[in-house]
Amino acid sequence: MAAKVISFSNQKGGVGKTTSCVNIAAQIANKGNKKVLMIDMDPQGNATSGLGLTKSKIKKTIYDVIIGKCDIKEAVIKTKFKNLSVVPATIDLAGAEIELYELEEDANFTKLALDSIKNDYDYIFIDCPPSLGMLTVNALSISDGIVIPMQCEFYSLEGMSQLLNTVKKIRQLYNPGLQIVGILLTMYNGRLTLTNQVVAELKKYYAELLFKVPISRTVRISEAPGYGEPICYHDPYGKGALEYAAVSKELMMRI
Ligand SMILES: Nc1ncnc2c1ncn2[C@@H]1O[C@H](COP(=O)(O)OP(=O)(O)O)[C@@H](O)[C@H]1O
Ligand SMILES: [Mg+2]
Repeated sequence: MAAKVISFSNQKGGVGKTTSCVNIAAQIANKGNKKVLMIDMDPQGNATSGLGLTKSKIKKTIYDVIIGKCDIKEAVIKTKFKNLSVVPATIDLAGAEIELYELEEDANFTKLALDSIKNDYDYIFIDCPPSLGMLTVNALSISDGIVIPMQCEFYSLEGMSQLLNTVKKIRQLYNPGLQIVGILLTMYNGRLTLTNQVVAELKKYYAELLFKVPISRTVRISEAPGYGEPICYHDPYGKGALEYAAVSKELMMRI
């Protein structure tokens, strides 16, 4: 069966997109025993370094794939983690945002093509940049689903309606089948009044979209990328790993 393609997207930065993408990808690959590919679509390349890859040693990246310089197969790197491969990103991807605008004008517009690898994996997870630009539009156009990580802050609510509008537009223009897999609360602290107010608001409008388990703010989750390890390897029995395991399970049931 062809892989399910899922983008982790939110135009706000620092909300836990990369952290969630890396940790859910690794969890499903390791404990779920599924073949997983993670595509880093953010020029900052945080997901790439979070999996322990050294950027200076990388030869082919998602940028080369997007501009049509190589097939995605050639850019796949096997990580040291079970069942987990990655297509890395480096800062050169920042240029792609502009080039994609120009390319779209002519017939050779290269959309990120996953056809050649879709049968090699069970899940393909895409870590999107913090914007709703061409890279994100491309990712969402080829995705079966979107996971929306968000922090429990007031501005997150404003951002959410904007993001859901974008999803609507993508459905109309490019990808009618795009499913919202769920909204994932990150860096959660249930003792804060604001957190509870935001959660109450979210439940009013998006109750069925919320993942049942929020991801708590923990030191172990934030330090793991520094070791180049997903949380299920860095601290397998800690709170963060258990929460990401629960979310991974729910995600697999939802899509
Ligand atoms: N559950 C968490 N607990 C503690 N720190 C977290 C947690 N999730 C993310 N972080 C930290 O918050 C920062 C932003 O997270 P990141 O995943 O890079 O967000 P994004 O990809 O949306 O920009 C990072 O420094 C990350 O380590
Ligand atoms: Mg990120």
